[in-house]
Amino acid sequence: MRILVTGSNGQLGQQFKNNVYNSDHEFFFTDENDLDITEKKEILDYVTIYKIELIINCAAYTNVNDAETNKRQAIKVNIDAVRNLVEVCEEKKIKMIHFSTDYVYNSNNLNPINEDSNINPTNYYGISKREGEKIIEKSASDSIIIRTSWLYSMYGNNFVKTMIKKGEKGEKIYVINDQFGCPTYSKDLVDCTLNIIISNKLNKYRVYNFSNEGYTNWYDFTKKIFELKKISCDVVPVDSNSYETTVTRPKFSVTDKSRIKDIFNVKIRRWDEALEEFIVNYQ
Ligand SMILES: NC(=O)c1ccc[n+]([C@@H]2O[C@H](COP(=O)([O-])OP(=O)(O)OC[C@H]3O[C@@H](n4cnc5c(N)ncnc54)[C@H](OP(=O)(O)O)[C@@H]3O)[C@@H](O)[C@H]2O)c1
Repeated sequence: MRILVTGSNGQLGQQFKNNVYNSDHEFFFTDENDLDITEKKEILDYVTIYKIELIINCAAYTNVNDAETNKRQAIKVNIDAVRNLVEVCEEKKIKMIHFSTDYVYNSNNLNPINEDSNINPTNYYGISKREGEKIIEKSASDSIIIRTSWLYSMYGNNFVKTMIKKGEKGEKIYVINDQFGCPTYSKDLVDCTLNIIISNKLNKYRVYNFSNEGYTNWYDFTKKIFELKKISCDVVPVDSNSYETTVTRPKFSVTDKSRIKDIFNVKIRRWDEALEEFIVNYQ
């Protein structure tokens, strides 16, 4: 298959570049300079010239804090550009794999969240990602949405890299201990996505959860990062009420991955096992 990856300078996009070196498929990696997904004509021209059969959309506006004040840009990339992609997919009969976030949920109970659980995003990033999902849900093309969470990788900025930097400076670090969620090593998400492509079952369900198995909170996550990286520094647990932020995040965002495991026959390792592999390879 001829596969276009958008937003390929981001965390997930770079991970795709890294993981597909021995794939049978032909990949076309584009960043915003090569292909701006807010321009429908650019997408249409690109997929026509390169005879694209599947789009993996890694492009997004992902700054959760800034999305509260820069709603216009969040709308442009997370909603309007998704509409562009969907329209092109429909016109050219192209399939699409799109990524979204657990922040579309916001569960009030302590049960793992499956794909049919209550949708109720509490911040504007989550709202914009949900609006993008809705366009895909209504689409006539074979497209799926993978909702992931707490993504980290060797690339770009993410929580794990930030904590390592702070820890190595010996800073005293205050970390929230009352928000629970599931870390995702981008390598595992990309491998799972490649399995989905091979299975050719993009028409079964629209939405899938994916993260590593198990769950943690930001404080315990940080402690585990430092234990594995052998960093000793002062980590202080704080509750989210005493942490100044303009953005509301869900308290218990633990997702149920049964659907993706069952349909695509994928095994998912625990978050701490994946983190250990990441830390071993992180310089
Ligand atoms: N990171 C997380 O913790 C997390 C959690 C849950 C879900 N997700 C979802 O997972 C997906 C991948 O996230 P990520 O962490 O890899 O994001 P990322 O590192 O921010 O990468 C997104 C990429 O999209 C590019 N982009 C922005 N506007 C574009 C445009 N108009 N046309 C083409 N490219 C554009 C960005 O370029 P610039 O940097 O130059 O703007 C960036 O390279 C996203 O859908 C995100 O919502 C992420």
